[in-house]
Amino acid sequence: MSTVVVGSANLDLVYRVDRIPSPGETVLARSADAVAGGKGNNQAVAAARAGAAVTFVVALGSDTAGDRLAAEARATGATVLDRRVDAPTGTALITVDPAGENSIVVDSGANALLTGLRPDEREALAAADVLLLQLETPLETVVEAATQARAAGALVVLNAAPVRDLPAELLERVDILVVNEHEAALLAPETVTPGEAAAALAADGRSVVLTLGGAGCLVVPFGAEPVSVPAHRVAVVDTTGAGDTFCGAFAAELDRAGGRTAIKSDRSASLAAAARFATAAAALSVQRPGAVPSIPTLEEIRAFVADRS
Ligand code: RIB
Repeated sequence: MSTVVVGSANLDLVYRVDRIPSPGETVLARSADAVAGGKGNNQAVAAARAGAAVTFVVALGSDTAGDRLAAEARATGATVLDRRVDAPTGTALITVDPAGENSIVVDSGANALLTGLRPDEREALAAADVLLLQLETPLETVVEAATQARAAGALVVLNAAPVRDLPAELLERVDILVVNEHEAALLAPETVTPGEAAAALAADGRSVVLTLGGAGCLVVPFGAEPVSVPAHRVAVVDTTGAGDTFCGAFAAELDRAGGRTAIKSDRSASLAAAARFATAAAALSVQRPGAVPSIPTLEEIRAFVADRS
């Protein structure tokens, strides 16, 4: 069992505000904090806390933020292949309103220099059962990692966030695409509804998980009927990193089930089971503030699932 995450890490500067400022507006924060974040980092931590043996490939600056992010990721038990590059560690400026909704601005910094996979990173990919990717690092590296891992027989999961046009050479190597409604609409512009977009994207052997926030998610296995997975009703404190928690837990559960082998034997059942597990993990994360600090452990997820069944 081995899950590799190739992706970004940011130091999140989080401001809790009464409302997210409009253009030209200044608002005073109720509190400010700096916590570990970044889509790749959040997903790597989520997969590790959910029980996967994780290797995280990341670019960080040679600064205190980089040291902190690497140390916190290692504290989960993950192997962190952190290259230190000539740029500051990525940062994100996040405002969170009382309903837990946020707005995020990312300065990529070191993440933009995660290019050209190195021998130790290629070795990790060659041994991966599951590869989990997002789009906060250069696209060429995402394509390279997907190509390497797929050639070695890994199951490739892509969370297309932040969304951008995806080249065919990437899409054809992706086994499972995880998108929200906005991302699905942009990737399948010829469609009208989110369900139609997910169905259109579930092509060429690729399955899709359409995340729907407080409404759960829709699993669209390639060649099979969609399965709806409801969300859990919880009190929302902060949605930052909830999607990443979903992706990391989803990848960990698929890895535990056997990765590509599980998908081959019963695609619908294994995808739906992993989505249910991931939905529980995300429900726990939205009840706590921050990205990495909100991500639950395997024990917490299992206790929550037992309590809700
Ligand atoms: O998905 C949430 C993440 O997006 C934050 O942690 C922030 O760093 C941005 O990458």
